[in-house]
Amino acid sequence: MSTPWKPDSWRQLAALQQPDWPDVNALNTTCQALRKYPPLVFAGEVRSLQSHLERVCRGEAFLLQGGDCAESFHDFSANSIRDKLKVLLQMAVILTFGMGKPVIKVGRIAGQFAKPRSSPMETVNGVSLPSFRGESVNDPSFSEEARQPDPQRLERAYFQSASTLNLLRAFTSGGFADLNKLHVWNQDFVAHSPQGQKYARLAEKISDALAFMKVVGIDSDNTPVLREVEYFTSHEALILEYEEALTRQDSLTGNYYDCSAHLLWIGERTRQLNGAHVEFLRGVGNPLGCKVGPDITDDDLIGLCDRLNPDNLPGRLTLITRFGHGKIAKVLPRLVRTIQREGRKVVWSCDPMHGNTHTVNDFKTRALDHILAELKQFFAIHAAEGSIPGGVHFELTGDDVTECLGGSHEVRAEDLTERYRTTCDPRLNAAQSLDLAFMITELSTSAR
Ligand code: PEP
Ligand code: CO
Repeated sequence: MSTPWKPDSWRQLAALQQPDWPDVNALNTTCQALRKYPPLVFAGEVRSLQSHLERVCRGEAFLLQGGDCAESFHDFSANSIRDKLKVLLQMAVILTFGMGKPVIKVGRIAGQFAKPRSSPMETVNGVSLPSFRGESVNDPSFSEEARQPDPQRLERAYFQSASTLNLLRAFTSGGFADLNKLHVWNQDFVAHSPQGQKYARLAEKISDALAFMKVVGIDSDNTPVLREVEYFTSHEALILEYEEALTRQDSLTGNYYDCSAHLLWIGERTRQLNGAHVEFLRGVGNPLGCKVGPDITDDDLIGLCDRLNPDNLPGRLTLITRFGHGKIAKVLPRLVRTIQREGRKVVWSCDPMHGNTHTVNDFKTRALDHILAELKQFFAIHAAEGSIPGGVHFELTGDDVTECLGGSHEVRAEDLTERYRTTCDPRLNAAQSLDLAFMITELSTSAR
């Protein structure tokens, strides 16, 4: 793109899915405050993720991205952060062991507070109110007052993100992520399930290997990679005033980075080539994601690559595909060929969640069978086309929720009423997440 970019150049273009802020002055006051607050992540960390994704692009590493659909102000505690970290670390161990490559761990966490909606209004018993747009905008409870967008929530989202990141940094560098603690990550309610037992057997094998290495002089005291993990944050860059306010110019390189998270993605509903979201993100140095649904045209796909990654840097752009198990086979082969024909470097990641949502007994849910069916085709299609299946993207939680159906510790339709707690889309529980990690290792090895 030849037109100059500035952190606020998106303001000239149409931004879809924005809240109807009742008081624009109050929004500006909040953004001025945010501009002065410290960055949440640092340019050096962002560049480190970029270089890991470059390896993913070459097939030398695998991307695991996951977390809440929408983080909540109310479900905010040390335990819930720890348990989300645990389940991602467990999945990463399963995948690393099964696939024989490093797994790059990226949470949908510490900033995932804003949601695009398919309808601006929600109607319950004949009453229509503005839809819930994520806790950085309004409150999920169904009342006129709760659904009024309030810009001070952006500030609260910033502070909750800072506090979440603080704990994540402590956990990942302070000994909790030590490979000798593999058993501790298995939570009680998972440990007795078939997946939990399978995980325990894997942990046993790794512990034996660690015991051997200790004898020959390699342990977590002298080898930091055994006791620390790199864990990155990500969210959908939806509320552009917020993202702009956290954008900083790096003193070392002069480049701009959006310091609200390491990786930012554009949602399926806001990826218009001439829209504000594409304009904003093209100018920041962070690695970017872009959701890709079944209706995308070849021109749009290449247009997105042109705008978001004009220098064709490997790892800069991750295409997060979310077609649905019944559509992926009709769409993905064409898109993969288009990317190959045009010589574009992208990471392909599969989001098997957002195309597989349906309603059962008034609950929005997803079936593990459908999620697995989309993943299976994702690996098979990339293998058939000689392309690299680079990663996976999940909505999950460390809690024992009953939001998605199926799994070897089965959640049935009648169980959905038990512990359905999400404020937005249905998430995998910890046991279902482990199930999928084991299945992915099988899929990726059998597709090769
Ligand atoms: C999401 O990831 O929560 C989401 C809204 O996805 P998509 O933009 O793919 O619908
Ligand atoms: Co979602």
